[in-house]
Amino acid sequence: MRIAVFSTYRYDQDFLERFNTGHELTFFSAALNELTVSLTEGYDAICIFVNDIANAAVLEKLAENGIKLIVLRCAGYNNVDLLAAERLNIQVLRVPAYSPEAIAEHAMAMILTLNRKTHKAYNRIREGNFSLEKLMGFNLFGCKVALIGTGNIGKAFYKILKGFGCRVVAYDPFPDQELQAGGLHYDSLVNALHDAEIVSLHCPLNAESLHMVNAESLKLFKKGAMLINTSRGGLIQTAEVIEALKSGQLGYLGLDVYEQESSLFFHDRSEDVIQDDLIARLISFPNVLITSHQGFFTNEAMEQIATVTFENVDAFAAQKVLVNQVIAPR
Ligand code: NAI
Repeated sequence: MRIAVFSTYRYDQDFLERFNTGHELTFFSAALNELTVSLTEGYDAICIFVNDIANAAVLEKLAENGIKLIVLRCAGYNNVDLLAAERLNIQVLRVPAYSPEAIAEHAMAMILTLNRKTHKAYNRIREGNFSLEKLMGFNLFGCKVALIGTGNIGKAFYKILKGFGCRVVAYDPFPDQELQAGGLHYDSLVNALHDAEIVSLHCPLNAESLHMVNAESLKLFKKGAMLINTSRGGLIQTAEVIEALKSGQLGYLGLDVYEQESSLFFHDRSEDVIQDDLIARLISFPNVLITSHQGFFTNEAMEQIATVTFENVDAFAAQKVLVNQVIAPR
């Protein structure tokens, strides 16, 4: 198949070329959106990532250009209008799980960095400053962690938390029976958040979860708690989280995702004046750690993304059962 691959960097191209099962790939560094959709003329399929936009207008144009397949190089699909895709007979396939441990381990890296301030110690020591002032952390052993979402990543993260001896309370509208049988305590969202010292989000972004962390829900956290979001930026109401950081209600924030990330993340903006005042404010806090959607970025995850992406394309081309198809909710 002839596939237009959007939002690619050298590392994407390397892995996709290495695992290609014989398709004709054209790499575009540009993201898919209403301005770039015209590039898809002459292709059979497109391959996109987290910040590409496949809304109804883009999908209409894709259909006009003869695109029959969208392969997502990611698990989340909140950037695709599934109802419009269905109406236009465009199949949407994703990579449902690629090394969930990669993201879970990144979430723990964020917790440890924020807590034990190793990033600050690293810089201090390089400047000959061996003081411990303001580097004090807290024990993770015994602390209450609200685990929001116990799918692939939440499950992997739970195992890590258990290893650290944390007291985990989970919320998921569909509790995992195996985890429950293994001793994981599920509760309502309110009870899970109540008095939590760490809240970690591992659920998809949808109408129900949009801005689930907001001024109201932040009041439930223990004062000075830590919030970690490696899922989707829209899960948190950023302006209200900033207020909670200013008041001290929130003591630490670790973000691998940001609601307006598409114009910033993955790009080198070091010579630009950042126009987004919310992220500029977030960057200014000493107790905020932001990474640029890199939770997935391990060798193992990249291999799996490339492998499953081509399995998806091959299944479509051979008219086999599409096990990784995403369909619009009924
Ligand atoms: P999954 O589909 O395996 O699990 C999601 C879980 O969330 C399910 O158990 C579901 O029942 C639960 N859930 C649904 N609505 C919920 C709600 N309102 N509150 C609490 N739980 C809810 O998904 P997976 O693979 O574990 O991914 C989780 C999130 O991580 C997704 O948002 C995904 O987009 C994001 N992600 C981030 C990456 C990164 O690089 N930072 C990479 C891969 C995924």
